[in-house]
Amino acid sequence: HTTEKVDQILSEFLLTKEELKDVMRRMQREMDRGLRLETHDEASVKMLPTYVRSTPEGSEVGDFLALDLGGTNFRVMLVKVGEDEERGWKVETKHHMYSIPEDAMTGTAEMLFDYIAECISDFLDKHHIKHKKLPLGFTFSFPVRHEDLDKGILLNWTKGFKASGAEGNNVVGLLRDAIKRRGDFEMDVVAMVNDTVATMISCYYEDRSCEVGMIVGTGCNACYMEEMHTVELVEGDEGRMCVNTEWGAFGENGELEDFRLEYDRVVDESSLNPGHQLYEKLIGGKYMGELVRLVLMKLVNEGLLFNGEASDMLRTRGSFETRFVSQIESDTGDRKQIYNILSSLGVLPSELDCDIVHLACESVSTRAAHMCAAGLAGVINLMRERRYQDELKITVGVDGSVYKLHPRFKERFHKVVRELTPYCEISFIQSEEGSGRGAALISAVACKKAACLI
Ligand code: BG6
Ligand code: GLC
Repeated sequence: HTTEKVDQILSEFLLTKEELKDVMRRMQREMDRGLRLETHDEASVKMLPTYVRSTPEGSEVGDFLALDLGGTNFRVMLVKVGEDEERGWKVETKHHMYSIPEDAMTGTAEMLFDYIAECISDFLDKHHIKHKKLPLGFTFSFPVRHEDLDKGILLNWTKGFKASGAEGNNVVGLLRDAIKRRGDFEMDVVAMVNDTVATMISCYYEDRSCEVGMIVGTGCNACYMEEMHTVELVEGDEGRMCVNTEWGAFGENGELEDFRLEYDRVVDESSLNPGHQLYEKLIGGKYMGELVRLVLMKLVNEGLLFNGEASDMLRTRGSFETRFVSQIESDTGDRKQIYNILSSLGVLPSELDCDIVHLACESVSTRAAHMCAAGLAGVINLMRERRYQDELKITVGVDGSVYKLHPRFKERFHKVVRELTPYCEISFIQSEEGSGRGAALISAVACKKAACLI
């Protein structure tokens, strides 16, 4: 009886193939609207031009600094781009991770960028390179409207960042100003890219068919190479340009209302950006644990879990971390992990409780994988249509903690992507330190073009 009721509640998370196709089509429609000048402003999926083009003009070699802001960790990296006899290039990196304090994330833009400049200064000291004026590539993983590769305004913060005075401003300018304020080192900021773009570029150097980049981590987003003549926001018709879809915002025009559940509404209402990034909130690691917690609370309140009693901790927002979802679904059958996690949250579960919690995690993370698959299938089918190819062979570069660390996300995701993309042959590659390498490689190309001195 209990299990039937539990199944009934969790069945709301199931999506049929028809429903997924429907999500895919709606996503494609918004992407199309985002690309067109006349509908761009009202489209939920912004399709932002990145000024990363398909015709690189060769690249410089030398040392580059790369910054990576917007995922779980803030990183500063030193990337050496060199020549390699076989492949024509090679990269080597050294990096250091810094955590961004909460008050820098939600204070003022000055505070945030001063902190970033402080971390760079610390990194330069550590590697004894403070005297060098290095070219810098900035991976900045938020929606930016670019005017050029090294210039663009932040449209809006996502993923729990909220520093005031940044939205509407040129991000590279904010960084340059902070470096100037410190005055103890100089940098030549030559490129700013989204993390999806950096991931795609870094994988492109391994595999020339890599024309899509995707992140399933704290947030969720994708970019791909679009034909220039359809990128109406930028002049010129030749070749291709990488478009940052910012698909996380899908749903802001009501496109997901048939699919969003009561838990999704609670997560959204208690977030820093209610009404925004609704697709991302179904998938991203920033929200997944909390969605599971809300489902567990529902089951408790229905008397179906933990004898109808939750602990104070389980009642507290944010207490169920996304990594628990991965750990619980990694359970090998002895329920040990599940038992330990639940007892650390102050409840003493029976075996049936453990199994129900496992099912709840599976429901939430499977829906995330399937929803995300519908989005990617939308992108890939669109690319195939644009290129008039009977069969599209394409590689997708991927990064992000949910994709990499969840034990089953990948396989569930790949399966649905392939079901929804007949006539496409898709390979997936995971990027390692992709953002650092990607930002450095695009900076190397930018330096060549601008003939800057390294
Ligand atoms: C990292 C990339 O590995 O993955 C970042 O270097 C990216 O640029 C991040 O933002 C995304 O994953 P997560 O899980 O850290 O948000
Ligand atoms: C959010 C950001 C986007 C980024 C993604 C993954 O959706 O808006 O720019 O690519 O998270 O980090």
